[in-house]
Amino acid sequence: MTPKCLSGKTALMKQLVRKTRRLVIRPLEIKDYEAWKKANLGMSKPQNTWDLGPRSPHELKRSDFKRILGAQAEKRKRDFFYDLAVFNKSGELIGGVSLMEVSRAISQTCFLGYRIFNGHWGQGYAKEAVKAIIDIGFCDLKLHRIEAGIEPNNTRSLRLAKSLKMRREGVKKRALFLRDTWIDLVIYTLTCEDVGRKFNTKGLVSKRRM
Ligand SMILES: CC(C)(COP(=O)(O)OP(=O)(O)OC[C@H]1O[C@@H](n2cnc3c(N)ncnc32)[C@H](O)[C@@H]1OP(=O)(O)O)[C@@H](O)C(=O)NCCC(=O)NCCS
Repeated sequence: MTPKCLSGKTALMKQLVRKTRRLVIRPLEIKDYEAWKKANLGMSKPQNTWDLGPRSPHELKRSDFKRILGAQAEKRKRDFFYDLAVFNKSGELIGGVSLMEVSRAISQTCFLGYRIFNGHWGQGYAKEAVKAIIDIGFCDLKLHRIEAGIEPNNTRSLRLAKSLKMRREGVKKRALFLRDTWIDLVIYTLTCEDVGRKFNTKGLVSKRRM
């Protein structure tokens, strides 16, 4: 069951916006091309295994940006994947947060993704941005459960999940094929009840299939 609130394109774009104390979280738009290019040109090389670092300069054309926007819009339309950009109050693009692989039916769940560009680490920006996208996930997208899968040695990300008071549920063995190997993931979750919201189960009937 996809929530009715996701039907109108403009209404949805409005719902996917949050202003926090120091940040604005919202979908990228065509007007953001220069900010996106500047962020990539200003970023240092990857600082650890999980830091993607900048795109190479030949991938920073306006046509590349348009292609990214098109892919993001298409995945939003399918209620499958929500990529939101993180801007500071000066309008500088400093990262991105996402709700990925939304599953509706009787699970109403998704995976959480986050990345702050490496010149801005250690200032609490990830915590502020992730809190905002979790709020969007539960309030606007009406999800029941948000799950982060973190590699056991990604200490910065583990610290972030703990700091957000997410619940450590255990280790999912050989969960993803990355860097030519199957990697384990430590699972941290929140359900809407954890943030004081009641899930409306009306319309969520688990039907017998056979
Ligand atoms: C993980 C990441 C998003 C953290 O971003 P950040 O903006 O530096 O995080 P914050 O400043 O909001 O810090 C969050 C928590 O981690 C702690 N922290 C930040 N840097 C730390 C460090 N170097 N060592 C230990 N703890 C650290 C903060 O103190 C804070 O905890 P607190 O609230 O208890 O003080 C960022 O490092 C990143 O983008 N990494 C690459 C991509 C990645 O790993 N994504 C996650 C994949 S699962």
